[in-house]
Amino acid sequence: MLIQIPRGTYDVLPEDSEVWQKIEETARKVCALFNYKEIRTPIFESTDLFQRGVGDTTDIVQKEMYNFKDRGERSLTLRPEGTASVVRSFVEHKLFGLPNQPAKLYYIGPMFRYERPQSGRTRQFTQFGVEVLGSKDPSVDAEIIALAMTFYKTLGLKKLKLVLNSLGDPESRAAHHEALIAHFKPSIGEFCEDCRNRLEKNPLRILDCKKDHDHPLMKTAPSIIDFLTEPARDYFEKVKGILDEMGIAYELDPTLVRGLDYYNHTTFEIMGSSKGAITTLTGGGRYNGLVSELGGPETPGVGFALSIERLLLALEVENISLKSETSLDCFIAAIGEEAGRKAAVILNELRQAGLRADKDYMDRKVKAQFKQADRDRSGFVIVIGDEELQAQAAKVRNMADGSQEEVAFTELADYLKAKIN
Ligand code: HAM
Repeated sequence: MLIQIPRGTYDVLPEDSEVWQKIEETARKVCALFNYKEIRTPIFESTDLFQRGVGDTTDIVQKEMYNFKDRGERSLTLRPEGTASVVRSFVEHKLFGLPNQPAKLYYIGPMFRYERPQSGRTRQFTQFGVEVLGSKDPSVDAEIIALAMTFYKTLGLKKLKLVLNSLGDPESRAAHHEALIAHFKPSIGEFCEDCRNRLEKNPLRILDCKKDHDHPLMKTAPSIIDFLTEPARDYFEKVKGILDEMGIAYELDPTLVRGLDYYNHTTFEIMGSSKGAITTLTGGGRYNGLVSELGGPETPGVGFALSIERLLLALEVENISLKSETSLDCFIAAIGEEAGRKAAVILNELRQAGLRADKDYMDRKVKAQFKQADRDRSGFVIVIGDEELQAQAAKVRNMADGSQEEVAFTELADYLKAKIN
């Protein structure tokens, strides 16, 4: 039997990889504009890291992790997200001790969650994320939102909606926690087993339960906004004020609690369209307690992550193609064996000169060679036959306008370079 790809995964085939590279390149460029440096952490980590970092009562930890034992009986997990790993690395390498603070970091790489696969939801997906560790300045919250928006705008996306909330400081959270217990407790029997288990431990998680989403008590649940302490409210006002001044529009949504436990203060999502439905393209927020939770000194943090899979759907909906017009500078069409040999040599020279160049290897007729040049989206086609060998000069056709010129073999690289630039 033919072996097939695991459910919830996919291959990026050669015709699509160019778009992935463009997206990744754009992410790197935007990060450079904002002075974020790349961090690369392992694909697997100790299971404990996510239990403590993401939170024991979250769906991610309870239902979605790919856990396995290695041959040394260690419990390891394919990372379901990047924040916990980045914080682990920050603590392990004592990056908090460097003079360069805050640490402004970004990552691009695969994450793994055992979820029910559907459009925009896969079991292996690629996140681009940023984390800023070491500053509690509200302008950092605004900066990462501006970074995400700049990234999307650079790619051409327009239909975006930023949704904002605050989960407050630990004191606000504690007061809200009690109010949620009081709200749900009398009717908790009507909720699913997960919600019942979460009531005392982490009632906030009830609010993002997928099963009991439509229960009437969800709509009337006490809102965190009403429990914010003065300093938490003040902090949130500052973040909103900076976004206002930056001209970044947002909507407030007091039900935005996010699915991971580490958040406090600012939380946000950027929504976009994907095949008719509105989905979350980006999720993020502040997590001032995570570094100390994972054994480091009290250090504030804030970040976001977005997946390339959902971004691709949004690009499709907005009819944005990231494919470039040409993928080759020139293609050599050779007629006859001797011309074929010469083509191989010229090809090598053109490549050494920094031109993207290719030729036929399938013994095609001239017409079919031109077709191949078209498939390769080549800017120019160089034709070499007996006549051209004799003259030591090739015919060079500009594929954009059909014009043709004769160019000496020795001049080909300079000629093409001048035309392309
Ligand atoms: P998250 O909301 O779990 O947050 O995921 C962030 C983004 O990853 C989502 O908005 C979505 O675009 C994408 N995503 C999540 N699951 C899938 C999936 N199964 N298939 C495709 N895309 C998916 C986090 O991961 C946090 N670490 C974000 C963060 C960074 N918060 C602070 N710093």
